[in-house]
Amino acid sequence: VMAEKGGFRHFMLKEIFEQPRAIADTIAGQVFEEEGAVFLDELKMTDDELAQVSRVVIVACGTSWHAGLVGKFLLEDLCRLPVEVEIASEYRYRNPVVGEESLVLAISQSGETADTLAALREAKLRGARTATICNVVGSSIAREAHGVIYTHAGPEIGVASTKAFVTQLAALHLLAIRLGRTVGTISREKGRELIGSLVKLPGLVEETLRIAPVVEAVARGCHHARDFLYLGRGSCYPVALEGALKLKEISYIHAEGYPAGEMKHGPIALIDEQMPVVVLAPRNAHYEKTISNMEEVIARGGRVIAVATEGDDTLVAKAEIMLEIPEAPPELLPILATVPLQLLAYHVAVLRGNDVDQPRNLAKSVTVE
Ligand code: G6P
Repeated sequence: VMAEKGGFRHFMLKEIFEQPRAIADTIAGQVFEEEGAVFLDELKMTDDELAQVSRVVIVACGTSWHAGLVGKFLLEDLCRLPVEVEIASEYRYRNPVVGEESLVLAISQSGETADTLAALREAKLRGARTATICNVVGSSIAREAHGVIYTHAGPEIGVASTKAFVTQLAALHLLAIRLGRTVGTISREKGRELIGSLVKLPGLVEETLRIAPVVEAVARGCHHARDFLYLGRGSCYPVALEGALKLKEISYIHAEGYPAGEMKHGPIALIDEQMPVVVLAPRNAHYEKTISNMEEVIARGGRVIAVATEGDDTLVAKAEIMLEIPEAPPELLPILATVPLQLLAYHVAVLRGNDVDQPRNLAKSVTVE
């Protein structure tokens, strides 16, 4: 069994460490860096068809929905198209406004989640063009969508999704570049720059993983907490949601992800000396605002665990604990910031003696409503 886990104690840990390889495999063969171009042939859409898309609707559940939320930032920013991100179980029972002007994108690791499949079918019935970002070849969703972007994470055994999530984000980057190049919002030059960064991502994730022993030590200091709060702004807000979900899933500690600027409208009332608050504060456009939210937490006695860019002296002086991620282009920061949060959830759960790979009450793929 240890051999199956490649020498790691749990599949989840093995899968966290497989992330550089998984991302590299997802990008491999899809990019032509000199031309700033992305292929995605299995999307089965011509440039004309792509140019006709005037709106994107993403449907997904769980961790895949969080990937969709990050995708909204990428697609809106790089393609200037409106993007809605929908929880599949809600979408399927609405009377959604959708038709042939829309590209409906189902994101699913397994390709078998019942709600996501039903949402996709609903959109298809109403005339939408459909596509999926999926990890399982030949799965129901991959078969029913018009086009596919496969993530090449390989089989994910741990119930808490890790490598599938980061490959979904890599796939969303590919889609945004292809779409942006086609509709003209991304120049050849900009395309080259974006692809140039994307191909460096596996190495950056590798570097980020070096923080693992530090995260384990941090987990020792907070695994008895009863509640955690995760705060982020912009594309780090979905990362806060994902960090909180990982912790809930395997440690059974109550955790909440919140947009940092919204904290003052409620969650701030919860903060006291018992409450670890994970603040996502890498150097990006939201940095200053996030820091001021972090200071509000500190002023109320909250214990801040900051995820920040390496060498950030301002933060070292302020936060109780700092988890460093490498410097990187802003669009890659959500991926890098996710890694320490996966490790934190993992180590907290192990310290609490939980079954990390098979958490209670959860299933790897939910094929019933
Ligand atoms: C279950 C799993 C989650 C996953 C979600 C959606 O709840 O435990 O890890 O994110 O289903 O699964 P999918 O296969 O559609 O991405």
